[in-house]
Amino acid sequence: MQTELTDIPERAAAFVRSGGVVAFPTETVYGLGADVFNADAIAKIFEAKRRPADNPLIAHIGNLEQIGTLAVRTTAAADLLIDKFFPGPLTLVLEKVAEVPLIATAGLDTLGIRMPSGELAQRFLQACGTPVAAPSANVSGRPSPTTWEAVFEDLNGRIDCILKGDPTEIGLESTVVDCTEDVPTVLRAGAISIEDLRLVLPSIRLHDHSDSANARSPGMRHKHYAPLARVVIWDRNVEIFEQISAAFIGLKAPTGNVRLEKICDSVEEYARSVFAFFRECDHAGIETIYCERVGEEGLGAALMDRISRAAER
Ligand code: TXA
Ligand code: MG
Repeated sequence: MQTELTDIPERAAAFVRSGGVVAFPTETVYGLGADVFNADAIAKIFEAKRRPADNPLIAHIGNLEQIGTLAVRTTAAADLLIDKFFPGPLTLVLEKVAEVPLIATAGLDTLGIRMPSGELAQRFLQACGTPVAAPSANVSGRPSPTTWEAVFEDLNGRIDCILKGDPTEIGLESTVVDCTEDVPTVLRAGAISIEDLRLVLPSIRLHDHSDSANARSPGMRHKHYAPLARVVIWDRNVEIFEQISAAFIGLKAPTGNVRLEKICDSVEEYARSVFAFFRECDHAGIETIYCERVGEEGLGAALMDRISRAAER
């Protein structure tokens, strides 16, 4: 398959309208989208990414009215979150309508819904004229793509089109909140932090991911975000001895020598850079990536979640 590269959102949207799959930028990471109501098109997403069929997709919307075409109802809690955080890096899980095919939700009767805030994403979604089901646009298990070049590296020749935009602003995937029960639960940490959410919904809970019998977010079970290199979470004050095949990313240079180093000015910059740095390390043949531990407040919780998962293997 020939993959078309374009920076015109209307052109990329035409592929979605005719049942194709298109990568597009959002403020979090690039997504790989298809018409949420077209089961055949959605099957192509799973195939292109080699995504396990038990991992549900998020429906991306271009206007708030589309929520009514996807969810049976919203809840009072969901309405508060929509009011405060849409458009933005927040996904709400709601009870889905029958028209959304089960392949999109991996057989679940619930659906994740999100309205991205990026300007190009909005223009693209509006031109699609339909909600767009999209996971991150990486091959399953690999770091999520924060540049169109990363999408190209993973998916060139396997999808119809890449809508080229700037590197993504946030760099980590959206916060996922399950709103199907009385007390909403955070299933995945993201740039909308638990502290932000508590200001609107003081009773919101954090999902216990160690309780696998109760895996409400199936995607969290799968291996994730992994570069080829081994990822090690690094605590300041541990010396990294001269290592020719090691790399470091964090807020302050370590003592000792590594081959590749990315020192970030803030946790925001660290989050924005980490997935691209993982890919850069793979290109350079790095064997071990030391990632500095950060405090788990605000965006730090999402960043620690992603590097901890990358370190699991
Ligand atoms: O920022 C993002 O969320 C990006 C951009 C492209 O929007 N998308 C993204 O999609 O990260 P993906 O497929 O890589 O991650 C979706 C997450 C998974 O952990 C999945 O299990 C969870 O959302 N999820 C989706 N639908 C769900 C549902 N109905 N119930 C529970 N969890 C759900
Ligand atoms: Mg993903």
